[in-house]
Amino acid sequence: MKKITIITTISLMLTSSLVANSQNSPEELFKTKCVSCHLTFKPSILSTLVAPPIMGVMRHVKMSYPNKDKAIAFMKDYILNPSQDKSICKPQKIKRFGLMPSQKGLVTEKELDIILPWIYDNFPPKGFKGMGRVRGY
Ligand code: HEC
Repeated sequence: MKKITIITTISLMLTSSLVANSQNSPEELFKTKCVSCHLTFKPSILSTLVAPPIMGVMRHVKMSYPNKDKAIAFMKDYILNPSQDKSICKPQKIKRFGLMPSQKGLVTEKELDIILPWIYDNFPPKGFKGMGRVRGY
């Protein structure tokens, strides 16, 4: 009986730590906070896009901010306080999608500290050659 309780307790602890880890992983945070607008793939129907997919965004961020720390600092500021004069996007992209709505209150700075290095390291993926027909890329 005791043994079963111990085993149950341990497996419960393991499960909850796994759940906590996966919820705080950069990928999961990116999925909950950013993917609703920034897809991680090129959709077959481009007219349904509400924002540029993240590969293109990161390609342009890195063109303007090749230094990782500076790129992260720029994104952190932009995501909470977007404005047209700070934007590294081409003007026609803002014309098409509108300015990104401030994510203040929706994502915390702590969460951004987890998400931003991850998107910097993972996007665009190797071999990415632009969004092809998506105007502005
Ligand atoms: C409600 C939709 C929406 C959400 C949610 C959203 N974005 Fe955006 N984002 C946009 C749009 C639209 C643009 C393009 C226009 C612009 O740059 O302001 C954009 C542009 C950007 C840019 C380029 C900024 C520039 O220089 O113009 C970055 C970087 C970015 N988003 C990162 C993120 C990250 C990281 C998240 C998640 C924390 C996120 N966005 C969540 C809509 C969104």
